[in-house]
Amino acid sequence: MSTERTFAMIKPDGVRRRLVGEVVSRIEAKGYDIVAMKQMTIPRELAERHYGEHADKPFFANLVDFITGGPVVAMVLEGENAIAGWRTMMGATNPADAAPGTIRGDFATSIDENVAHGSDAPDTAERELGLFFPESG
Ligand code: CDP
Ligand code: MG
Repeated sequence: MSTERTFAMIKPDGVRRRLVGEVVSRIEAKGYDIVAMKQMTIPRELAERHYGEHADKPFFANLVDFITGGPVVAMVLEGENAIAGWRTMMGATNPADAAPGTIRGDFATSIDENVAHGSDAPDTAERELGLFFPESG
């Protein structure tokens, strides 16, 4: 067991659909600490760096347009095994595969607008937290 920090985000579709309270409630109920939280509109350059691993994918341009297209809520979560645990709470990337009870399973129908983001590994969490919360390094 280890205490971890991870980067979590409610994407523009989640904010637009007024799901912030629902998602934050689930995080609080689970028991993770919300160490920092801010609503922001992601600048294009930050979006391209954040999703840099997908730069060659056919969905990259659409993804950057979407993620910069409205405000998001960005969070630093902390808790036991928070990295994998938050991914489990979000569910599979494609909502068609996401189990009921997960955020994507309960609230999303489209793979490109799937409500939430979470770092997928410790090195990713460190990189993404550095991009979005450089002050809490
Ligand atoms: O977000 P997650 O880590 O679960 O998935 P990813 O494979 O790292 O993809 C990042 C994001 O790109 C997804 O959450 C989707 O919003 C988007 N995406 C997409 O629009 N179309 C795909 N075929 C795959 C991913
Ligand atoms: Mg990913």
